[in-house]
Amino acid sequence: MEPKERAARSAISRIQDGQVLGFGTGSTVQYALEALAERIRDEDLRVLGVPTSLQTQRECQRLKIPLTTLEEHPSLHLAFDGADQVDDDLQCIKGYGGALLREKIVAAAAQRLLIMVDDSKLSPRLNKPVPVEVMPFGMGVAQTFLQKLGRPVLRSKDGDTYWTDNGNPVIDVDLGTIADPAEAARQLDAIPGVVGHGLFIDLTTELHVGTATSVRIIEREPV
Ligand code: 5RP
Repeated sequence: MEPKERAARSAISRIQDGQVLGFGTGSTVQYALEALAERIRDEDLRVLGVPTSLQTQRECQRLKIPLTTLEEHPSLHLAFDGADQVDDDLQCIKGYGGALLREKIVAAAAQRLLIMVDDSKLSPRLNKPVPVEVMPFGMGVAQTFLQKLGRPVLRSKDGDTYWTDNGNPVIDVDLGTIADPAEAARQLDAIPGVVGHGLFIDLTTELHVGTATSVRIIEREPV
C-alpha cells in the first residue's frame, strides 16, 4: 500500500456514525474518500461532508458520499486533509493544490483536524514556499508587500495564470526557513488584498503519517 493511502485509511478509521465532516483536497484526500465510500457501503455509515474544492465535490458525487454546506452545518465534528509540509509542532504548509482558502475555513469550522501525509512531508522546520491567495484587484499591491517578506512567484498553469475555485490567483512565497510560523502567518494576514494563505497554525489535532510499512499517529489537544 502507498504511504499516503496508509495514512488516509488510518484517518478514515477514526470517523464515527452520524458525524458531519470536512473533506480536504488532493491525492491523499482521494485515497481517504475512497476508504470512506467503502465504509459507507460496507458498514452503512451515515455521514455528511463539506467539500473544499470542485474536484473533491465531483469525487464525492462519483463515490456517492452525501454532501452538505457550511450554511447548513457551520460546525463540523472532524475534517481530514493532506498537507505539503508539517513541522515538529504540527504546523503545516498547505495549498499546493490551490484549495487553501476553503480548506482553512473548513479546518476552522471543525472540532478536530486530521492531517494525513506520507513521511516525505515531515520537516523539523517549515521551509517550503507558502501559497498566498490574493484578490485580483489587489494583486500588484500584495506582491509589493510580499517582496518585503520573501521571494514571491505568481503561480501559473499550462503557461497561464493559475486561478483558484474562488476566482483568485495564487502567489507562492519562498520565506526561507520559517523560524516563527505563527508570526509569519500574522504578517501574511496583515497584507491588504491577501484573502488566505497556506500556513495552518495550531489547527492540526491529529497527524497520520504513512510510511512504506506502517502508520504513526501524533495527537494534540485543540488550541
Ligand atoms: C490542496 C492541499 C493538499 O492537501 C496538499 O497539496 C497535499 O496534496 P497531496 O495529498 O496531493 O500530496 O493543500 O490545496
